[in-house]
Amino acid sequence: AGNKTLTIIKPFAVKKRNLGAILAKIEESGFRFCAIKTLKLDKHEAEDFYVEHKGKPFFDELTDFMSSGPITAAILEKENAVEDFRFLIGATDPTEAKEGTIRKMFATDKAHNAIHGSDSDESAERECNFFFSRRELL
Ligand code: CMP
Repeated sequence: AGNKTLTIIKPFAVKKRNLGAILAKIEESGFRFCAIKTLKLDKHEAEDFYVEHKGKPFFDELTDFMSSGPITAAILEKENAVEDFRFLIGATDPTEAKEGTIRKMFATDKAHNAIHGSDSDESAERECNFFFSRRELL
């Protein structure tokens, strides 16, 4: 398994000032920050990022939300990064997320679920390249 994953701290989490707490939780859980930036996506960029969900009923809501305010994107490093990080963030729907997971602690609902984590090594590579230039990929 690869040792990198891509995370996004989503707009409401940044707006509610949970950014520092979430980043601390990630670091405490054994992940190293390789690269990090705060930016705002426009609607078209959000559609590009989530292209694999195009056609799904929640696509428009998802891309509206993800382009609604600042997000923080980061490349995280750890052995077995993708799988371990998905365990740390918990289920997509926070009502199903286990105690101690980031979504249990910080998410509002399925659409506003505080944080993203890549779902495979292939997605991680694509998503890291989406947000970071070659110079930023350490
Ligand atoms: P994320 O891990 O960023 O990847 C796809 C996102 O789609 C997911 O988090 C959810 O926020 C969102 N999503 C998935 N299912 C639904 C749904 N039924 N309604 C709204 N958003 C959803």
